[in-house]
Amino acid sequence: MRFTSMLFLIAAIFFMNGCCGLGEKVSTVSSPSENIVVKFFLSENGSPTYSVYHKNMLIIDSSRISFDFKNQSPLGKNLKVNLIQRESVVDEWEMPWGEQRVVLNEYNEMIVNLQETENHKREFNIYFKVYNDGIGFRYEFLKQPGVDSLIIKDENTEFNLTGDHTCWWIPGDWDIYEHLYNTTKFTDIDAISKRNHYGLAQTFIPENAVNTPVTMRMDNGLHLSFHEANLTDYAGMTLKVDKDKLLMTSELVGSDRYGYKVKRALPFFTPWRTIQISEDAADLIESNLIVNLNEPNKLRDISWFIPKKYMGIWWEMHIGTKSWDLKSGNHGATTENAKKFIDFASDNGIKGLLIEGWNTGWEHWIGFEDREGVFDFVTPYPDYDIDEVVDYATDKGVEIIMHHETSAAPRTYDQQMDTAFALMNKYGITSVKTGYVGKIIPKGEYHHGQWMVNHYRKVIEKAAEKNIAINAHEPIKATGIRRTFPNAISREGLRGQEFNAWAMDGGNPPEHLSIVAFTRMLAGPIDFTPGVFDISLPTKPNNQINTTIAHQLALYVVIYSPIQMACDLPENYEGNCAFDFIKDVGIDWEQSKVLNGEVGDYVTIAREEKNSGNWFVGSITDENSREITIDFSFVDPDAKYKAMAYKDSENSHYKMNPTDYELEEFIVTNKMIKTFKLAEGGGLAISLIRDIN
Ligand code: NOJ
Ligand code: CA
Repeated sequence: MRFTSMLFLIAAIFFMNGCCGLGEKVSTVSSPSENIVVKFFLSENGSPTYSVYHKNMLIIDSSRISFDFKNQSPLGKNLKVNLIQRESVVDEWEMPWGEQRVVLNEYNEMIVNLQETENHKREFNIYFKVYNDGIGFRYEFLKQPGVDSLIIKDENTEFNLTGDHTCWWIPGDWDIYEHLYNTTKFTDIDAISKRNHYGLAQTFIPENAVNTPVTMRMDNGLHLSFHEANLTDYAGMTLKVDKDKLLMTSELVGSDRYGYKVKRALPFFTPWRTIQISEDAADLIESNLIVNLNEPNKLRDISWFIPKKYMGIWWEMHIGTKSWDLKSGNHGATTENAKKFIDFASDNGIKGLLIEGWNTGWEHWIGFEDREGVFDFVTPYPDYDIDEVVDYATDKGVEIIMHHETSAAPRTYDQQMDTAFALMNKYGITSVKTGYVGKIIPKGEYHHGQWMVNHYRKVIEKAAEKNIAINAHEPIKATGIRRTFPNAISREGLRGQEFNAWAMDGGNPPEHLSIVAFTRMLAGPIDFTPGVFDISLPTKPNNQINTTIAHQLALYVVIYSPIQMACDLPENYEGNCAFDFIKDVGIDWEQSKVLNGEVGDYVTIAREEKNSGNWFVGSITDENSREITIDFSFVDPDAKYKAMAYKDSENSHYKMNPTDYELEEFIVTNKMIKTFKLAEGGGLAISLIRDIN
């Protein structure tokens, strides 16, 4: 492993006395490239204030920081700067699995120690880290004599925009991220009218706020994306919108049970507040800011988790041909059905099979208020012989993926977690998909509040002890925790493929994933479950997938996850050459390059498979057809590649003719430039197999 580390403690500047007027004592910290500059100062009344510049242009205007507490007076005025420390770091770390193997971690840091000049003379620190791809800052609350813990009523971190930017946003829902993205000017953000969404078993949108990541484009083309990193023992952050002031202020998710947002024992750090900054949309996706702001890998060994493609007894339930529960008469998770999937997966080199509806409790799943104690994570339904299925799968080189739908009753899950994980260990099952559909029990808690943040983390930590990997649905958002706990392999946290099967609003529009790639995907891996071939969904007359088949294929490259589902049924793949791409496409990457893209319009990504040197390219477009020119200069100049392109045909169209595609075989060297046409709602998937003669 290549690993270099240079650490400089450049300077410690002592401020002898407090209050300084604006302009007098501005402390700055720049990115290593010097393109991004953060300025910190105290306003006239001693409020901590920061602003951000890109190439000398103001992009975040003076923004204040303050906190309201339940057990103390507010903090954020009458402060003085005691001390400023600086550090510059350049190092590299390796992802055990990921979009790339080696990650550069290069930044300049400024730590500001602040103290109140009156009252209790409380002290706290603000850490600013400035990277070439954006900034992160967080607060550290220090020990206070005679105080055990802080009870935060509100964190008021401001993000003061400099214009009415174009924004890609979902509502600041405290309970779910499964909303369609809206594209509006900042002053047209209206999260409140998005309150009632069909198909959401839980939703709570108390403010005109947005969830993160929220991505924006400024008039000059600069892109900004606001999010948070290392969300640990704290409430998730939404951003409240003040249209008149062009201002966003952090609005933490609360708890009706406790009437506060966060309770923490002193001392503690808050999560990082992050702004990814890039001159074009494509670079946003290449940014590693979020993972870089997390702690290094705490798990010594993760070799037991192998990135893989998987199938599932799953899509049948969503398209209504099978059921999760035994009683309704068409149970999906039977020994026989499992064997059918195992046979197909094994024949096609697919290494995983998710089986949902295998355990008792599903008859009470939705609409049942008292969901505590209903699901059982160790008892199979009688028509599912888990011993037989696991043995059969093991013989055929397929690993079963466990499923734990908690129905948002986390205390029930807590009670059974040890036995549930022990059962998995017994069967050699190394990953589980968890689910949290419904309003959280106990009442008054929300999916994105501190209590649930801690639950989700506890699951990851406990699972790590047992060599179990977690793919959470209805999760807390990704904030780069996968760096520290690489058994946090993937998560949902967006409107996934399932909505295409049953959403009454017509499903995800063709532009959906061209927005997701530049918003939700900046947070981390996504279990989107691509790969529908039977696009018209015959059993769902009012629904269809709003993409072409080539677009579905492209998603295996465009949307990153170390587990990727081939979600359709074996009979829909059989005999279709397009399935060869799903069989061939890599799942773990040496490096990734975003070749082009505009948020909401299109995106093209190339990824090099680890160890083989093969490349795969995926390109998707929205409802507009377009030409995409690919410059293959990213491939090894000393190699030749046999390329197979899975393209939209002249007649392809996401509505009129979604299943039409063409194959084109050609040779690629790094000198090649080639143009492809993507249909309306279309895509392009290319495999590049290295070193042919
Ligand atoms: C919602 C999940 O997103 C979906 O994938 C799963 O099948 C159901 N819950 C049942 O757990
Ligand atoms: Ca879901």
